[in-house]
Amino acid sequence: MGAAGEPKSRESVTLTDNRTGKTYELPIENGAIRAADLRNVKTSEEDFGLMSFDPAFMNTASCKSKVTFIDGDKGILNYRGYPIEQLAERSTHLEVAFLLFNGELPRKAELDAFTHEIINHTFVHENLKKFEEGFRHDANPMAMFISSVAALSTFYQDSHEIQDPQVRRQHMIRILAKVPTLAAWAHRHSLGLPYIYPDNELSFTGNFLSMIFKMSEAKYKPPVAIERAFDVLFILHADHEQNCSTNAMRAVGSSHVDPYSATAAASAALYGPLHGGANAEVLYMLREIGTKTKIPEFVKKVKTKEAKLMGFGHRVYKNYDPRARIIKKLADDVFNAVGRNPLLDIALELERIALQDDYFVSRKLYPNVDFYSGLIYQALKFPVDFFPVLFAIGRTAGWLAQWEEMLMDSEQKIARPRQLYMGSPRRDYVPMSAR
Ligand code: CMC
Repeated sequence: MGAAGEPKSRESVTLTDNRTGKTYELPIENGAIRAADLRNVKTSEEDFGLMSFDPAFMNTASCKSKVTFIDGDKGILNYRGYPIEQLAERSTHLEVAFLLFNGELPRKAELDAFTHEIINHTFVHENLKKFEEGFRHDANPMAMFISSVAALSTFYQDSHEIQDPQVRRQHMIRILAKVPTLAAWAHRHSLGLPYIYPDNELSFTGNFLSMIFKMSEAKYKPPVAIERAFDVLFILHADHEQNCSTNAMRAVGSSHVDPYSATAAASAALYGPLHGGANAEVLYMLREIGTKTKIPEFVKKVKTKEAKLMGFGHRVYKNYDPRARIIKKLADDVFNAVGRNPLLDIALELERIALQDDYFVSRKLYPNVDFYSGLIYQALKFPVDFFPVLFAIGRTAGWLAQWEEMLMDSEQKIARPRQLYMGSPRRDYVPMSAR
């Protein structure tokens, strides 16, 4: 008993199985019980044991992680403990990538060495260019990106040696470095423009912009405001704990496939309109609304479930997405540099109306990272289909950090969920004539 006569608290939960009347004490560790402990809850020796049923992982932690912390109710996002607001204001994408990979901010010499390594791996094999050229002129750039990341694995035969720390790191560097090149080439291909080789005198982001925008000039000089804006966008997208694509990276990586294939799988997950494709959907939605006067009509459709307010809502954030706040401000900097996107006014008014409406307030639906990012991309004349590719460039750092963490975690095995079989019991094959 405790001092006040209360039962002494223990880090455990006691479960009574009403089928048998037996009780079980399940230890609580880090606010969780181990689902495997439920297997002891049985009605007989032959019984498989109790499982937990959790479609879409609504309440299941699949790993322990030290990479990213999110408090969805408070709207907090930290990478390795550092608040996203501070990183967005003071860091660079490569410094953030180093932080995500290694757990600590780099000292100057470490960052210089890391930057040097990345900058010197931006080129891809010439055959990959031919591979990209094989796509139809109207191929979706994200589909091209996914395929070309997967194709990279064919050039690195040792990339399956994932247990060798040096080999593993070498390929993490390669992927991080080459992803902007593949992304930019997918974009140039869609426009029918020649592919631009990397310029290793530029920063990570400056080089990406060069491969996107360079035309006949001898040297492309990225506008400072745009270069910084993109670097911040990459930082904001760099990681987001166990989201759909990171889960794909970990799950596919858990089969011990090479990191190029796992990154391609993660990219494929990001392609979907409920994940990385949402920023494109926001643009389609704003275009469809067309004028501020049509917003109430659209909101009505959302409330009757005929439409979805894209760029709103989040599985984890039940508060303003901290990344959306930063992006909203970033949009001002970009629009000052390149001119205002007329859809911004519709977006601002839509946000204002939604945040006062009980439908959104009661469901805790707030703008997420995608609500404003598409407007920035569009102001820079990126086609909507390219938006998820831009997301993928930033997120690659997080995917790789999480992939390595998964490999190093002795508790992890090949990802293999259970199922509740609801189909037919055993039955005999019926010949065609008797069906
Ligand atoms: N517009 C209208 N209603 C919504 C929306 C929305 N964007 N999002 C959720 N709801 C409603 C939903 O219909 C449900 O209502 P009810 O209780 O009446 O059935 C309630 O809110 C709870 O939603 P949910 O579908 O259970 O939430 P979820 O956690 O499964 O879905 C989400 C999260 C992001 C898939 C969803 O909010 C959504 O589809 N949003 C629009 C797409 C989007 O912007 N995605 C980008 C996410 S941020 C980038 C990333 O990290 O991938």
